[in-house]
Amino acid sequence: MAAQRQLHLGAFMRPVSLHTGAWRYPGAYPDANFNFAHLKRFAQTLERAKFDAFFMADHLAVLNMPIDSLKRSHTVTSFDPLTLLPALAAVTERIGLVATASTTFDQPYHIARKFASLDHISNGRAGWNMVTTSNPDAALNFGMDDHMEHSERYKRAREFFDVVTGLWDSWADDAFVRNVEDGIYFDPERLHVLDHKGQYLSVRGPLNIARPIQGWPVIVQAGASEDGRQIAAETAEAVFTAQPDLQKGRSFYTDVKGRMERLGRNPDHMKILPAALVLVGESLADAQDKRARLDSLVHYDSGLASLSIALGHDASNFDPDAPLPDIPESNASKTSRQNVVDLARRTNMTVRQLAQRLGGYSGLAFVGTPQTIADEMQDWLEQRGADGFTVNFPYLPGGLDEFCEKVVPELQRRGLFRREYTGTTLRDHLGLPRPENRFFRPG
Ligand SMILES: Cc1cc2nc3c(=O)[nH]c(=O)nc-3n(C[C@H](O)[C@H](O)[C@H](O)COP(=O)(O)O)c2cc1C
Repeated sequence: MAAQRQLHLGAFMRPVSLHTGAWRYPGAYPDANFNFAHLKRFAQTLERAKFDAFFMADHLAVLNMPIDSLKRSHTVTSFDPLTLLPALAAVTERIGLVATASTTFDQPYHIARKFASLDHISNGRAGWNMVTTSNPDAALNFGMDDHMEHSERYKRAREFFDVVTGLWDSWADDAFVRNVEDGIYFDPERLHVLDHKGQYLSVRGPLNIARPIQGWPVIVQAGASEDGRQIAAETAEAVFTAQPDLQKGRSFYTDVKGRMERLGRNPDHMKILPAALVLVGESLADAQDKRARLDSLVHYDSGLASLSIALGHDASNFDPDAPLPDIPESNASKTSRQNVVDLARRTNMTVRQLAQRLGGYSGLAFVGTPQTIADEMQDWLEQRGADGFTVNFPYLPGGLDEFCEKVVPELQRRGLFRREYTGTTLRDHLGLPRPENRFFRPG
């Protein structure tokens, strides 16, 4: 009998939470973005709970929201992940450390070198969330007037991947002989100069750091578009994705793994990890109350801006304490409008509550008891909507602690999650093979 599949869990770290109201929640650490002691505590707690990885998302500009909303959000600012994660590597031993870095605004030599360093410093725990950068304002911080066009960004990203992985393969694993007698430090026969000249990038190489412990740090993708899915199928070993429900999650899972198989890749060598907000209560009603309290901490004005965008219609004249009125279709996103209308009809939320939901967090959420949350996670795993989750904590530290203390033991009791790490590297945790060096056979 085949062994039961288990969930993989990554922590989606915006250190104060992704939810815009979280910094105002009772007991929250509003300054966690810049408080290393808090970040260390979070990483160590997640490691005790045997999480696969701590994932630090990143943006290269403050979020592109109107200033009246921005001024109310803690998600504006954060540490640079590639400065933070090596520091966390020194205070943890097993948990994977995944950072976002941009193929649009960075240089491949830089990225290859930094992630190889993180992999060595952490003893094989690094992962790279390879994004093309979603926030167009980043262009303005890098000497450009406009964001590079979407398909162009993905073409550059594909070439970027080849260059970065080629640089990681610069040295055979046994290149550094360090022979004290002969005075030979490395074997020049075991060194490859990449000499890449492509459409977007020109990089001679070799990389000035030994091959990473994992061969390559784990490659993560988070794109959703046609181009994003295709590059994931070609290159990714883990995928972060925003899927609103199990049905859509299954169709994404089948699509990306199908593309992978058509390319001759083994679909088990990619773990699909949808993002989910998980809010734990003593009872369903308790969890729903906590969520309502959290949403109520989103300022109405900033929620209103999000609601108007989602509806494609200015909601500022609606009565905040009445149900959502009928709204004519517009030229904006039909899907997001329909999602809001469905939510309003299903839950009887007022305009104010809808605005606060949209302004806080409106993606996939598991809100309930440890048992109902485990049921939902199990369903996604068994119905092949996911190989695990990138967990968003609703508020920190409380929401993170509750997940680790209550949901993880329930998943372990069901045999759905590890009780101990069985390996030492992020590849071990995710069940991924170590890539061979494309230029050298093992010596
Ligand atoms: C869980 C998750 C995490 C993401 N993290 C980042 C991030 O840290 N930085 C970033 O610029 N974009 C991030 N994104 C956005 C994606 O990179 C991507 O731009 C978005 O999903 C739209 O897909 P597309 O670019 O293929 O249209 C994330 C997306 C998801 C679902």
